[in-house]
Amino acid sequence: MHKVIFDTDPGVDDAMALVFQTCHPEIELIGVTSVFGNATIETTTRNAVYLVERFAAPEVMVAQGAAGPLRGAAPPPIPHIHGHNGLGDIELAALPTQNRAARLDARPAHRFIIDTIRQHPNEINLIAVGPLTNLALALQEAPDIQHLVKQVIIMGGAFGINGVLGNVTPCAEANISADPDAADQVLTAAWKVTAAGLDVTQKAVMSTAYLDNLRQHGGEVGQFVWDVSRLYEQFHRDSADVHGIYVHDSSAVAYLVAPQLYEVRQGAVRVALDGLARGQTIQKPAAMGVPAPSWDGFKMQDVCVDVDVAGFLQLYFDTLTANAKAA
Ligand code: RIB
Ligand code: CA
Repeated sequence: MHKVIFDTDPGVDDAMALVFQTCHPEIELIGVTSVFGNATIETTTRNAVYLVERFAAPEVMVAQGAAGPLRGAAPPPIPHIHGHNGLGDIELAALPTQNRAARLDARPAHRFIIDTIRQHPNEINLIAVGPLTNLALALQEAPDIQHLVKQVIIMGGAFGINGVLGNVTPCAEANISADPDAADQVLTAAWKVTAAGLDVTQKAVMSTAYLDNLRQHGGEVGQFVWDVSRLYEQFHRDSADVHGIYVHDSSAVAYLVAPQLYEVRQGAVRVALDGLARGQTIQKPAAMGVPAPSWDGFKMQDVCVDVDVAGFLQLYFDTLTANAKAA
């Protein structure tokens, strides 16, 4: 079993990544930590609680995280992508106060991350699919966790593979752009990070027909994925003429359970902290011989440079539909 802490800013694709984990038989979701990003911290935390209450095991708790980046202000919410409620404006049944309270851990997210990693040395997979502020705060408070975590997998960055650009600026992807300082700290730490950036996540398109098939065969979860993705799909159609959706955050989960679907490139990664390129993720490939002092000496991280798209789509479909059959 893969033990997971899921750090997230739900978010439509975050919600899809969460149900992917709750349906996967080899994932043990230990806890969920919220962060600002797709919406305010109040909204993303409310959504995380809603999602675990509806789909996760009763013992899975949510710890509320950062309301903004290490430096500067949080980006404004993006209702045209994720809806005013962060979950595609689907109807969210109000949770009884006692259920909500029972799901909320008293600790801030970074403390929950530290304590849980120390409780399970070398067992925790930290999957982070929002701005990396909680992880940076955890590192600052407890540097020992770099050596105690099993691995860190992020959805974040745009590495220019085959000319892939950012989605906030021509060079910056949203999760990194929201807190470049935190991202640079996370990517240069001694723990093992794998980054699934736009280079691979924009290849993994779920078409309308695929989502409809999931709705028909995926039981309650399949219906939820369909419902939650309607407005998100409209955004893709309007903004990029994509007839379907990018499934960004589930790529980080797929990497955990099926790393063979991804081709990775090794090398130190730095993040541009200021100026025109703020938020750009730049890897110095291990094979590159020239000295580059800003990269040299930092941990070699893995950047996903290609994905078996059919394999990824099959994995997601099989996971949700097998769960529906078992229910
Ligand atoms: O750039 C894609 C990322 O930004 C995803 O994590 C999505 O949820 C948004 O936060
Ligand atoms: Ca996200």
